[in-house]
Amino acid sequence: MSHELSFDIVKASSESEVADVVVKERFISYVETLLEEPERLIGKGSLAEVHGLEANEKVCVKVMSDDRNYGTISQERVGSPFYNSAYIEAEFLSDLQEIARDVGVPKPYYSMEKIGSDSSGMPKKVSALIMERLPAVSLEHVINGFEEIPASYEEDSFWEKLESFVQKMHEKGIYHRDLHAGNIMIGTADGKPYVIDFGTAVYATEYDAYEKPSRAGRVNINAFIDDFQGLKKVHLLLKKAMIDKI
Ligand SMILES: Nc1ncnc2c1ncn2[C@@H]1O[C@H](COP(=O)(O)OP(=O)(O)OP(=O)(O)O)[C@@H](O)[C@H]1O
Ligand SMILES: [Mg+2]
Repeated sequence: MSHELSFDIVKASSESEVADVVVKERFISYVETLLEEPERLIGKGSLAEVHGLEANEKVCVKVMSDDRNYGTISQERVGSPFYNSAYIEAEFLSDLQEIARDVGVPKPYYSMEKIGSDSSGMPKKVSALIMERLPAVSLEHVINGFEEIPASYEEDSFWEKLESFVQKMHEKGIYHRDLHAGNIMIGTADGKPYVIDFGTAVYATEYDAYEKPSRAGRVNINAFIDDFQGLKKVHLLLKKAMIDKI
């Protein structure tokens, strides 16, 4: 297959820190292999698939291909009517590391785009982000009963930490806009909250955050979830799921 590979080492983690976890050349072969035969799907959203790797437990790979993403993966960050590319998502993850303390955000390692062709010879673009694999389960999986809530879950502090994280994120000018249960995770051992998936995040102000264009290319203020409202809704859903289980 003819293809081009382009790589970006995200400024996130220093080069030596990245090299400690995953070697760049390995990333190419990881992604090649994943595309041939998906190995261990650990999560699936509306746009992307996230795979774990048997060869390296510390990382996971988020893969977006343009048959699911309508060719939008290399849009620019500012003013993009579409979902963020893997590069841009990696930049958000990187920018958030400095406020990720009580609430974690996965460390991004490498992002790449590959242009190849599908079985009928049509050009096909794939973008991938290799990042820290969180020792956590998504609240969506907990709510729908696929996973148990970790024993260390402490309700008040969990949601207070998330609120203060969102506050700090907004102070940096970052709005997530898609805080549903699948984008919040909880540490399996320590109950720590994590926020993932900056595919619809923007740099914005409180005045325009939820009015920036949506993936349909139009301003659709109903398309995005207000970050604080999102947290509230997920909290209620989780409460209800836990009550229903008793
Ligand atoms: N760093 C990570 N570590 C462990 N699991 C992860 C990680 N990132 C994602 N996942 C799992 O993969 C799922 C899908 O990832 P993600 O939310 O990034 O995809 P998406 O297609 O952009 O989702 P959405 O439907 O919200 O747009 C998550 O809900 C989570 O279960
Ligand atoms: Mg998601």
